[in-house]
Amino acid sequence: MDSSHTPSSSSEPQLREHVYDGIQEYDQKLPNWWLFTLYITIVWFVVAWLAYYQFGIGTSDEARMDSFIAEQQAAREKQMGGVTDAQLWEMSRDPKMVEAGKATFMTPGMCVTCHAPDLSGTLGGAKLPGLPLNDQEWKHGGTPLEMLTIIRKGAPDVTKGMIAWEPVLGVKRVTEVAAFILSHHKEGEPVKLAADSPKLGGAAAPAPAPGTAPAPAPAPAPAAPQAK
Ligand code: HEC
Repeated sequence: MDSSHTPSSSSEPQLREHVYDGIQEYDQKLPNWWLFTLYITIVWFVVAWLAYYQFGIGTSDEARMDSFIAEQQAAREKQMGGVTDAQLWEMSRDPKMVEAGKATFMTPGMCVTCHAPDLSGTLGGAKLPGLPLNDQEWKHGGTPLEMLTIIRKGAPDVTKGMIAWEPVLGVKRVTEVAAFILSHHKEGEPVKLAADSPKLGGAAAPAPAPGTAPAPAPAPAPAAPQAK
């Protein structure tokens, strides 16, 4: 090493003093093109951070996803929305639709598991989780559209077991299965709301079943002092 080499002209790479294992390093200047990309990146970060996160310019992934989902839902509603009670009754008299609905209904693990093969909600005298679908009493409404809505979207309290079936089966099979249930009914038959129907009396207050004893009468007030 020539010590005269050290303070050479500033454009030359300078050899640093530090030696380790006989190895020395040059104090190289970073190339300008490299520095330029670094500075651009820093500036870009600041601009993007301000615009995207602070001022909300541009669409976020969430917003884009939300609008995509809304679009899908709107399309599905449109596909479904046109259906009327009259059309559903019509389908219930179409043997092909009813057969297809029956096949879905009777698939092990599907509707039949909880609503029974005869739709009675009971099997061999035992009560199954599902409500009877072959009588005229409905908890969630007895019009074809109300019934279809429950099958599509599930019962309000999903923990009871009646889940939304549309995501599982799709629009077509859900409609077929509704047609199958309707084929056990007659257009214009009287329908009744069950005593525990949420459609009765609006608010969640459960209607007291007839014959239920009223709440225990308040004990007579002067009872306490007598216990001497
Ligand atoms: C895991 C059990 C289970 C399965 C499987 C099931 N349900 Fe239900 N279903 C229920 C229960 C429980 C209710 C009553 C929910 C409530 O009390 O709010 C119900 C309610 C209903 C109702 C409304 C009845 C009324 O009185 O308003 C219809 C219609 C119905 N189910 C149809 C179906 C169809 C169609 C399928 C198959 C695609 C199906 N269910 C699968 C348990 C089930």
